[in-house]
Amino acid sequence: MAESWVIMVTAQTPTNIAVIKYWGKRDEKLILPVNDSISVTLDPVHLCTTTTVAVSPSFAQDRMWLNGKEISLSGGRYQNCLREIRARACDVEDKERGIKISKKDWEKLHVHIASYNNFPTAAGLASSAAGFACLVFALAKLMNAKEDNSELSAIARQGSGSACRSLFGGFVKWKMGKVEDGSDSLAVQVVDEKHWDDLVIIIAVVSSRQKETSSTTGMRETVETSLLLQHRAKEIVPKRIVQMEESIKNRNFASFAHLTCADSNQFHAVCMDTCPPIFYMNDTSHRIISCVEKWNRSVGTPQVAYTFDAGPNAVLIAHNRKAAAQLLQKLLFYFPPNSDTELNSYVLGDKSILKDAGIEDLKDVEALPPPPEIKDAPRYKGDVSYFICTRPGRGPVLLSDESQALLSPETGLPK
Ligand code: DP6
Repeated sequence: MAESWVIMVTAQTPTNIAVIKYWGKRDEKLILPVNDSISVTLDPVHLCTTTTVAVSPSFAQDRMWLNGKEISLSGGRYQNCLREIRARACDVEDKERGIKISKKDWEKLHVHIASYNNFPTAAGLASSAAGFACLVFALAKLMNAKEDNSELSAIARQGSGSACRSLFGGFVKWKMGKVEDGSDSLAVQVVDEKHWDDLVIIIAVVSSRQKETSSTTGMRETVETSLLLQHRAKEIVPKRIVQMEESIKNRNFASFAHLTCADSNQFHAVCMDTCPPIFYMNDTSHRIISCVEKWNRSVGTPQVAYTFDAGPNAVLIAHNRKAAAQLLQKLLFYFPPNSDTELNSYVLGDKSILKDAGIEDLKDVEALPPPPEIKDAPRYKGDVSYFICTRPGRGPVLLSDESQALLSPETGLPK
């Protein structure tokens, strides 16, 4: 009879949003970018992936479940991550249970992987970034790999480029690297999550009927057809990266906001410069930009920065709680929920921002005054699905409490 022990590890990894965008690869297979990028890690309390990985001599093949449904691991990106981590596996011993796995055993042993996002995968909130980062981090711990998080980021990168930035909390830089094998294309922390902790992040999940072009396909077409991308990667981004790092280190919000908005807008301009053009933002996205721009202008100094990835959702970074509360009032004025939606399921995450904004129920939303900086402001009921209030957050952690594991310690199958 086959031995029946199961050893497992559970990890939790955050998602991230780029403030200087990665768009375009110089090597598709290794996932090497055409420029550096910088991101902020979002608080895993509100947005994260939890992954349990297990090994047992009784497993017949590698298997994976995502949000409870079995998915195929045959894709090249999964295979690359699994191969790279297996190559770095070391001896593992559980003395109490008398189990010993030696370095060379890992080639023959199979793993089970169960992964769960605490936010809707379909919302387009960088679930692949948190997912691949968590997969690589959890497998590295299970297999006792000695690599540090930067070295692990170079493996997560081969699952999805943006995933490499989810190996750290705070603000993170993905250095594009120079060498051909990609070993120097990895993430480093710029500052940790405590460095700039008055920032508040509000995500507007925008209702959309359109199937978007995937990042992978979109950036391939941009690289093939956009001359603007060449200029961006060579001339613009290198200078912006230096300025962005300075702004973050000095907590210079005006400069941070200016660079963040400009880089998001240039990324979408590069998409428009692609043949055929790619449109990720929609009318609602444009209205949110205009709301923030008008407000920032009327105050005289930036209160909020906006950034949009490959979809219509807005990520809004407010200077502090006061600015965040004012922002939420404006957003709820323009985009009130449908009449059948409760406020509690319309504003998710850190609800204390709602309190700061003096909003307790739908009646308060109805009674909000129009923002003074806009005349004849219309309201767009139902154009936003929901908001998530969050903040910069920490990097990956191991969850030692077995009750948080997604696989059964006896069978190694989903609980
Ligand atoms: C617009 O990391 O999803 O979010 O490397 O092909 O998996 P692949 O692409 P992905 O692209 C992310 C693009 C972006 C900008 C960013 O996160 O920097």
